[in-house]
Amino acid sequence: MRRKLIAGNWKMHGSRSMADALVGEIAAQRPQDADVLVFPPFPYLASLAARHAASGIGFGGQDVSAHQGQGAYTGEVSAAMLADVGAQWVLVGHSERRQYHHESDELVALKFAAACAAGLTPVLCVGETLQERDTGQTEKVLARQLDAVLAISGIAPFYTAVIAYEPVWAIGTGKVPTSQEIGDMHGAVRHRLIARYGQEGEKVRILYGGSVKGSNAAEIFAVPDVDGALVGGASLTAADFLPIIEAAAANAPAE
Ligand code: 13P
Repeated sequence: MRRKLIAGNWKMHGSRSMADALVGEIAAQRPQDADVLVFPPFPYLASLAARHAASGIGFGGQDVSAHQGQGAYTGEVSAAMLADVGAQWVLVGHSERRQYHHESDELVALKFAAACAAGLTPVLCVGETLQERDTGQTEKVLARQLDAVLAISGIAPFYTAVIAYEPVWAIGTGKVPTSQEIGDMHGAVRHRLIARYGQEGEKVRILYGGSVKGSNAAEIFAVPDVDGALVGGASLTAADFLPIIEAAAANAPAE
């Protein structure tokens, strides 16, 4: 069993004071038997990473430019800049980026590579829409999203990188797949990694995301191949986020 990782994606929520208070509360109260990281909006990242550097909580950007180095790319934030202000992690290919900003599998793969080149650990988000699920394409979609990244970066970065399976229809909706469905999808991702790269694929952490709450976390974490959660709405208050971290810690492998 792998040590669980709980990541909070704040999306476009919060304020400077809320951000500092929330991270302070989580740092003070969290159990130590799970890894915790947060993805705040860009403007809050540098000060949070500096103020809470000793907290053991990881920090990451919600997105990153595919361009490496510097350049005339207004509005873009490079992976090196994120690392420079204390981020260790970055989300790539979140479904809201794929959907609202038309990010292709290839662009996501370039972002993943840019993150790795700057020493950041990417969390690669994959997942199917309701229409794709209803037409039986879920596994095909996951394979396509994964293969685009593997084609450019290979398996090596995945030993530290993370995959987040987030069915688009479960995000922010309160609808959660059954444990069986989550297990099937995580198993399919794991199987693909192992099929292409052998037993090394066992090492990759695969998170589940989509309407994770304190009330369903324990059940989700008991599913094989679920190595943690990527949490949206329930990561915005300590009262909602801490029970999820506690459920993950309760599921920690024996030392
Ligand atoms: P919710 O937990 O609000 O469903 O969001 C999930 C998500 O998109 C995390 O990246």
